[in-house]
Amino acid sequence: MRLPVPACWALLLALGICRAHRARPRNVLLILADDGGFESGAYNNSAIATPHLDALARRSLLFRNAFTSVSSCSPSRASLLTGLPQHQNGMYGLHQDVHHFSSFDRVQSLPLLLGRAGIRTGIIGKKHVGPETVYPFDFAYTEENGSVLQVGRNITRIKLLVQKFLQTQDDRPFFLYVAFHDPHRCGHSQPQYGAFCEKFGNGESGMGRIPDWTPQIYNPQDVQVGGPAPHHVPKMPTRPASLAL
Ligand SMILES: *[C@@H]1O[C@H](CO)[C@@H](O)[C@H](O)[C@H]1NC(C)=O
Ligand SMILES: *[C@@H]1O[C@H](CO)[C@@H](O)[C@H](O)[C@H]1NC(C)=O
Ligand SMILES: *[C@@H]1O[C@H](CO)[C@@H](O)[C@H](O)[C@H]1NC(C)=O
Repeated sequence: MRLPVPACWALLLALGICRAHRARPRNVLLILADDGGFESGAYNNSAIATPHLDALARRSLLFRNAFTSVSSCSPSRASLLTGLPQHQNGMYGLHQDVHHFSSFDRVQSLPLLLGRAGIRTGIIGKKHVGPETVYPFDFAYTEENGSVLQVGRNITRIKLLVQKFLQTQDDRPFFLYVAFHDPHRCGHSQPQYGAFCEKFGNGESGMGRIPDWTPQIYNPQDVQVGGPAPHHVPKMPTRPASLAL
């Protein structure tokens, strides 16, 4: 997978094909990490321990040669969910707040088409695209109806929501899109939790706890920057320090 590591974008990490049996319909799990790069064992980064992601990646389709159409959050999410570049899907910029961009009303997105084809769709985490009529999901826990810290960063909460989705009685095959807000910076919006929200849920006073997370501190000197395409990563001295968080 070749991607620049841009300021506000989600990396497509792994596409899990859950039911391998040939005759049966397959389910799809799509995992994104907001601003994530190649920092996982699945991409041969040995400085970081990601055993669960690596195990999932071994049973999944791992993208080795994929590109983001633009290094910005909503436009690249919209491209991923429509297969169209932003000038065709209408999402030229960020969706929420003052930016106010939306996809064109007649765009046929992945969740829309899959829903029509009898596939159950779910989104957990950061959505950041719209309008709702273009991106309808049957099951949705996003920043639009909850705290993005909870649905996008609290891995225990995310785990419980995934369980809720999987335990719902439904015979249809599914497409589940889990979009982590990690490792996006949060110092501008939630400065109390640190530059990358690295303190959120770390168990210290006032930070709450995320039961499934044991914080691990990385030394910037040990951090490997880059992946299969290290020439895409700008060689800035702040990169290792940022990735260490
Ligand atoms: C990781 O390294 C192994 C062994 O060299 C190689 O087979 C594999 O393709 C590499 N994975 C990626 C994502 O580059
Ligand atoms: C968010 O929307 C879903 C429906 O997709 C609903 O089940 C859930 O209760 C909502 N969450 C909140 C916090 O309102
Ligand atoms: C994370 O979610 C779990 C389950 O909902 C909750 O018990 C815990 O308090 C949450 N942690 C934070 C920091 O909000």
